Parts: sequence; C-alpha cells; structure tokens
Amino acid sequence: MDYKQHIAIVEDWPKEGIRFKDITPLMDNGKAFKSAVDEIVEYSRDKEIDIIVGPEARGFIVGCPVSYALEIGFAPVRKEGKLPRETIKVDYGLEYGKDVLTIHKDAIKPGQRVLIVDDLLATGGTIEATINLVEQLGGVVAGCAFLVELTYLDGRDKLDGYDVLTLMQY
Ligand code: PRP
Repeated sequence: MDYKQHIAIVEDWPKEGIRFKDITPLMDNGKAFKSAVDEIVEYSRDKEIDIIVGPEARGFIVGCPVSYALEIGFAPVRKEGKLPRETIKVDYGLEYGKDVLTIHKDAIKPGQRVLIVDDLLATGGTIEATINLVEQLGGVVAGCAFLVELTYLDGRDKLDGYDVLTLMQY
C-alpha cells in the first residue's frame, strides 16, 4: 500500500526548519491504518515476541493494536514523572530537544523477547533510549518497527545489529 498519501507534511512545525510528518491522516483512514498495523504484526510473527514496548505518545497508537493482534502485553515507555511505580530511566536527545524516558522496573522479565514499536525513526535518539531501557531490564530486542523513517537523519546508524522494519522512507 502507498502509505505516503496518508502522511501530511507540515512545514516549520514544531520549530522552524522541521518538516513534520503527521501520521493522523493515516490513523484517520481505517483501511490504511489497519494495513500498516497488519504489516508490523506479520513482521513480528516469526520472532517469538513476548511483549511490545512503545514510547510515548505515538508509540502507543501504533504499538497497542499490534499487541492486541498478537495477544501479548504492551509496556509503555514514558517521559519522566508519568509512571506511578518504581522505574528506571535514561537521558536521550531528540531531533528538536532533550528529555528523559522511563519504564516500570517490572515491565519486562529477563530474557523476554521484545518488539519496540513507534511511529517515526528520526535521529534514533528515542529508539536508542528505549533499547537501553529494555536491555537494562534484561529484555532481548528482537525487532524495531516504525511507520516512517527519515533517512536523512541517519537514525539507522544507532540500530546497527538490530532487526528494523520501516514502512515509509523520506
Ligand atoms: C517523536 C516520535 C518518535 C521520536 C522520533 O516523539 O513519535 O518517538 O520523536 O525521533 P528521534 O528518532 O529523533 O528520537 P516525541 O518525542 O515528539 O513524542 P510524542 O510522540 O509524545 O509527541
């Protein structure tokens, strides 16, 4: 499917010079959204995934339907101060800022096979931080799946040795 027709490109948002890729038109189209989720589900099938991990907030939108389809759990990665119980954390750099990501300490059991799902791979800061959290807990990152990859930001360089799926490249 040509998913790009369902991505809105917003110039200079949230800052000047950023060409924001808005996935909400894709979410708004039931067939396109289902097809994208189904592709990630199919990608996961032979990977013996135990749990899906998705970073706030758009990682929830893409990751949760994958979790539902595979009938496995979903563990949220959130910005600092959002998760109510004991967490571990990591600092990370975004395409346009810096932040801290956290995960519940008991979200992943050692040895569990994890698929990380997010909407977008840009600089790779978020996925790198999420992988760090999963591995700190003893999880095995069996794959990373994204709707969109901004190839000019070289996020893939941070994913050397990991299995990666992206449905659209810019
Ligand atoms: C966006 C996007 C990815 C991340 C990609 O999330 O949803 O998670 O940036 O960028 P990177 O590869 O350079 O790290 P954002 O942090 O804006 O959070 P949001 O989904 O809560 O808006």
